[in-house]
Amino acid sequence: MRTVFLTLAVLAGLGLAGAGAVVGLGLYNVSAQAGHLPGVSRVLHTTFRNAVRLRAPSMDQVPPLDDPDLIALGAGHYATACAGCHATPDEARSATIRAMLPAPPPIEEAIAHWQPNELHWIIENGVKMSGMPAWPVKHRGDEVWSVVAYLTALKTGAAPEVPSRDLTGAAYCASCHTQVGGPVPRLDIQSLDYLAAKLEDYRSGTRPSGIMAQAARLVPPQDDRALLTELAAGTPQPTPRPTPTGPGAELARQGTRDVPACLACHGKDPSRGPALFGQPEAYLADQLRLWAAGTYHHDPLMLAAARELSEDDIIALSRYFSGGGD
Ligand code: HEC
Ligand code: HEC
Ligand code: HEC
Repeated sequence: MRTVFLTLAVLAGLGLAGAGAVVGLGLYNVSAQAGHLPGVSRVLHTTFRNAVRLRAPSMDQVPPLDDPDLIALGAGHYATACAGCHATPDEARSATIRAMLPAPPPIEEAIAHWQPNELHWIIENGVKMSGMPAWPVKHRGDEVWSVVAYLTALKTGAAPEVPSRDLTGAAYCASCHTQVGGPVPRLDIQSLDYLAAKLEDYRSGTRPSGIMAQAARLVPPQDDRALLTELAAGTPQPTPRPTPTGPGAELARQGTRDVPACLACHGKDPSRGPALFGQPEAYLADQLRLWAAGTYHHDPLMLAAARELSEDDIIALSRYFSGGGD
């Protein structure tokens, strides 16, 4: 028995010494030109596949992915966040990208063998030590679905074209903010001060959004005001008049014992809170869920206002402020 233990201890010692030599003496060749040893790629890929299958959300957590605005938002994010590595469907990957190990597959190949729930996990979490990045902020799985919606449309041949990567300045911002509705807010109804402060919040992570962190970091902060002024100068869109009755109108105007009246802050004085009338219903509902869940907490008053909102309240209020009636 003693001999067995001794032999095992010696073997373990040799193993550790060997590993130590590989690490300490630089024996493992990290060159991306060398490729993996035979079999290693297959082991890594099987590990990756099984890790994703184990952790992906279940299929019944997948929201409807066929909304054109959601798909267009995903395409807009894809243009600057993914296309540099996976290319767009009609272009080739650059020579340098193809020299990565592992190389990012062309997007049609990258999505071919994954279900929407698995794609969501990969895009939110990234893949360690492969060059595939995680979503830029945590706890915004809701945003990741827009990219999954775009990729799902790509599979069925129903995807719109990805916006050009040559767009700059206000034209770039407008590719989402005037071309896409649904989860994308209008900017033309807000004050310049509010919008400039929000861009800073996105850059610092105070207001966590992977989509806007990506967009805001593509423009230099010193240009914010000029950029926002140019964006606001477009043709003003009509703002619908809210319907005066119904549960949403009542809650907004009077509040309840647990929920303060929204219009106390979201009324005529823009210094108390941003304008809400005329924002798309989907955007309002998304934002209210983020506040109600505490994911957004950068304003204590708004956080307190949303804390007791039920899902029914959120739906009624979003309808009311979007002008959709109750
Ligand atoms: C810096 C380059 C880079 C960027 C940017 C990038 N990826 Fe990747 N991606 C990779 C690499 C490398 C892999 C391969 C991982 C592997 O095979 O181990 C990968 C893998 C994937 C896969 C799984 C493919 C497979 O091998 O089965 C999907 C899906 C994917 N990426 C989607 C995206 C999306 C969507 C975005 C944008 C939100 C994105 N990627 C951004 C480099 C990148
Ligand atoms: C890929 C689409 C996309 C692009 C491009 C984009 N945005 Fe956004 N923007 C969004 C989405 C989605 C939100 C909501 C994010 C959230 O959940 O907070 C948003 C929110 C904002 C807000 C906050 C509005 C509010 O009412 O609180 C501002 C300000 C803003 N964007 C400015 C810009 C500017 C300036 C640019 C160009 C540099 C830009 N955006 C480019 C999609 C986009
Ligand atoms: C005490 C003042 C106050 C009350 C009451 C209040 N809010 Fe707010 N709300 C704010 C402020 C301030 C912000 C801006 C937070 C920020 O800087 O991002 C905000 C942000 C929002 C946003 C996000 C808008 C955007 O474009 O980013 C929505 C949606 C919203 N509030 C809805 C409501 C609703 C619905 C109610 C009523 C249940 C309500 N608020 C009550 C102060 C208030």
